This record gives sequence, C-alpha cells and structure tokens, in this order.
Amino acid sequence: MSRNKKMSVSSEALSALWQILDDVEQYLAPTSEREREQVPLFSDAEALDADQGQAIGQMDLASLASQVVSCTSCVLSEKRAHPVFGSGEPGAKLMVVGEGPGEMEDRTGKPFVGKAGEYLDAWLSAISLSRIHDIYITNVVKCRPPHNRDPEIQEVAACLPYLIRQIELIRPQMILCLGRYASQTILENQKPLRDLRGTVHRYHDIPTVVTYHPAAVLRNTGLRKEVWEDLKLVASYLDLALKTR
Ligand code: URA
Ligand code: SF4
Repeated sequence: MSRNKKMSVSSEALSALWQILDDVEQYLAPTSEREREQVPLFSDAEALDADQGQAIGQMDLASLASQVVSCTSCVLSEKRAHPVFGSGEPGAKLMVVGEGPGEMEDRTGKPFVGKAGEYLDAWLSAISLSRIHDIYITNVVKCRPPHNRDPEIQEVAACLPYLIRQIELIRPQMILCLGRYASQTILENQKPLRDLRGTVHRYHDIPTVVTYHPAAVLRNTGLRKEVWEDLKLVASYLDLALKTR
C-alpha cells in the first residue's frame, strides 16, 4: 500500500473512532449536575457483554478484571499470553494510562514492568508519587499487540469500554496519558502529542495531562524537558512536592 493510501486509510479509521466516541458521549452525557449524580458518570459501556449477564458499566473492578481475562472481543486475544488489566491503588489520586502491554507485561500480566516502567517510576518519584500507594495504572489496550506493533483502531474501540469503566470506578483526581494513543483516545482528539501536551484538559470532569511515552523518551532524550514540564503540571495540580536530586 502506498504511503498516501495508508495515511488516508488510517485517518478515515480515526475519524470513524471519533464518531463512535461522539455517539457514545452524546447518548450518555448527563445534562445537569442532578442527573450526573443519578446516572453512571461517563458510560454504561453496555456494549460488550449482554450475553454474559452483566453490562460492563455495572461491573466492579474485580468483575471487570475477570471479564478481561476471558475477553475475545478483538484479535489481540489470539496471541496474548496474559491480558494486562491494570494495577495499583483503587483510591489513587493519579491514574496513568499507557498504550498497551509489551513483552514483559504480556509475560507477567502486570503493567509497565519493563524498562519503560522503571523509567516511569523515576518520573513519578520526581513528583513524590509512589506507584504502590498513589497510582492506578493501565493501558488503552489490555492485550499485547504482536511484536509491539501499534494497536489498530478496531482494537482500541473494542477495548475502550474497559478503560472507561476503570476511570469511572477509580475516579482519580487527575489522569496522566502517556503517548499518542492514550492521549488521543482519552481526549478524543487527533492532534499530535506536541500540540496536546503542556496544558490541563478535561476528561469529563477529570483534569487530564498528556505527555510523551517513557519508551519514546528513552529513545529520544531530547523530550525530557517537555516531560518534566508536564510532570510539574501534575505536581502543581495535585499539590505535590518536586524532588530534584
Ligand atoms: N508500554 C505501555 O504503554 N504499557 C505498558 O504496560 C508497558 C509498556
Ligand atoms: Fe478484549 Fe481488549 Fe484484549 Fe481486545 S485487547 S481481546 S478488547 S481485553
């Protein structure tokens, strides 16, 4: 396929996803504060499991996790060793969202346990956050894309109800998106990451900051300055001390 053709296919696919997201949003958006209290916050994410008895939007974290273990809603289920649901403190003030499991994560079933995860821990500790106590961490897709390829638009769309429900249950004070996939998916925006970072957005009522993926920064250390600016934004919003060595 020519490069131009490829680009037009992927931008069509992205437009289709934003359309789906807009439709879901319109259908679910509460119209007043009073209604907001009465209906699920973001989504009843009912799509996936009518046949299994419980809608995703009704599930608690434990049932959601077991649903993911047996999920076959997209082709990523075929080659995964372990789905990676997410981990951390259910009362976390910060929810971190990455792209998808890599090799180590697929092997262990845990998010961000490889090199990128170690680097992420250093970022978090620079703003006085500990992964164990303060963070809930997950990914846009819960199963590893083979050879770490980018997730396809249909895979992101199939997995999205899980992420939406996780956010709804955790209700973090802030969301930090790592990389283009998490940022564009959560913000429903196709702009490049460099245009989305550096400011506080909202996912519904939740302040949301986006920055580069730690794996990208390991490859291109020139991005560190921007990441530090974004982390300082998180720190200032959550009133966290900066730890400079
Ligand atoms: N990269 C991600 O985006 N998520 C992980 O869990 C690991 C690496
Ligand atoms: Fe299901 Fe998500 Fe895994 Fe696809 S990536 S099989 S939607 S859990």
